[in-house]
Amino acid sequence: MKASVLDQQDPLANYRHQFHMPRTGGQDQRYFCGNSLGLMPKDARKHVEKVLSQWSAEGVEAHFKGHSQWMPYHGLVRDDLAALVGAEPLEVVAMNSLTVNLHLLMATFYRPQGARRKILMEARAFPSDRHAVASQVLWNGGDPDVDLIEVAAEPDADLIDPDALDAAIAEHGEQLALVLLPGIQYVTGQAFDTARHTAAAHSVGAKIGFDLAHAVGNLPLSLHDAGPDFAVWCSYKYLNSGPGAVAGAFVHSRHAHSELPRLAGWWGHQESTRFKMGPQFVPTPGAEGWQLSNPPILAMAPLRASLPIFRQAGMQALRRKSELLTSHLESKLLDRLGDELSIVTPKEPTQRGCQLSIRLNRGRELGQRMYQTLLAQGVVCDWREPDILRASPVPLYTKFADCDDLVSALAAELEKN
Ligand SMILES: Cc1ncc(COP(=O)(O)O)c(C=O)c1O
Repeated sequence: MKASVLDQQDPLANYRHQFHMPRTGGQDQRYFCGNSLGLMPKDARKHVEKVLSQWSAEGVEAHFKGHSQWMPYHGLVRDDLAALVGAEPLEVVAMNSLTVNLHLLMATFYRPQGARRKILMEARAFPSDRHAVASQVLWNGGDPDVDLIEVAAEPDADLIDPDALDAAIAEHGEQLALVLLPGIQYVTGQAFDTARHTAAAHSVGAKIGFDLAHAVGNLPLSLHDAGPDFAVWCSYKYLNSGPGAVAGAFVHSRHAHSELPRLAGWWGHQESTRFKMGPQFVPTPGAEGWQLSNPPILAMAPLRASLPIFRQAGMQALRRKSELLTSHLESKLLDRLGDELSIVTPKEPTQRGCQLSIRLNRGRELGQRMYQTLLAQGVVCDWREPDILRASPVPLYTKFADCDDLVSALAAELEKN
């Protein structure tokens, strides 16, 4: 179907107007980079300015006064966050940044004991995850060369076979302390089934956590039912909450009332006695019990603009549009440029989110040049070494016509080169 018709029929088309659209050469950008930094919701400024006004007018009392008082501020985003990831409110918290949360939750859920010392993750994981995991192994007196298992795709393939992943989990069985997987792999855009791999890890007695950086706000999630021990994510990609936004964490309710060992701070202490200032740590039940510090209210404010948009639009409706958008981009790319490129991301919609990872047949140098050339024209994708152009049509603000523009711009430039 034609892009103009699809845009006209799009029930979510108006959500685009809730975002600031960056411009190049006097024209709205065609923005395909929500996988890196989502666009700014127009309401974000209001919420940040509200915090600044509270601070200027009320000083310390703003902690305790009014609807948006700072003391329980993280609670203002709790319900929306829980709904977005398919969790109970008790299971989620907005705090810190992604890698910090990964470390905090590994401090609890990676507890090597006896022969159970290994961590299994995907090969070519995002470097920060790899660094976090390897350093946890070292921190616990292990050796990453021995204790870190990285499951790779077959030689000459890009995608990891989910059966091979479960087979590796079964093979290392009683030696596995933790499995850490992505919701969506950042280079290839491959989605992993949280429930399936959670069952595989739990069946051998290992704990499992997910890095949902590229899945949250992109795929509908059912974390409570899927049952992983923990999950972490950032909020600056598909959650549109700003550069370095306050991240999120999920801890399954089966751990909510246990006094699991953790790296503790006063904000994770039981709320009713936090200000008694006693020396003993008593954890707040649920994910909030992993908080360390009082939250950065200014940084948290944009979440109050971004999360309600997901509630209003509905994750199922967003996903329906997302599948259409990504398939539209995919078929245009392949119809017009099938001789020039291949798409690394799985074709099957259940195995991907909105991102398409594109590899040019004529090699990485041309690919990188194309990325720069498109950027200069206001067609914003991103580049991931060694040879991947990532393009993510985001259902909240990308038009079907934007997808056509991307394909036309790429086709025109490839013709010149
Ligand atoms: C998959 C994945 N994991 C971890 C990170 C690191 O995030 P942060 O710098 O917020 O800790 C990123 C950042 O883009 C990512 O894409």
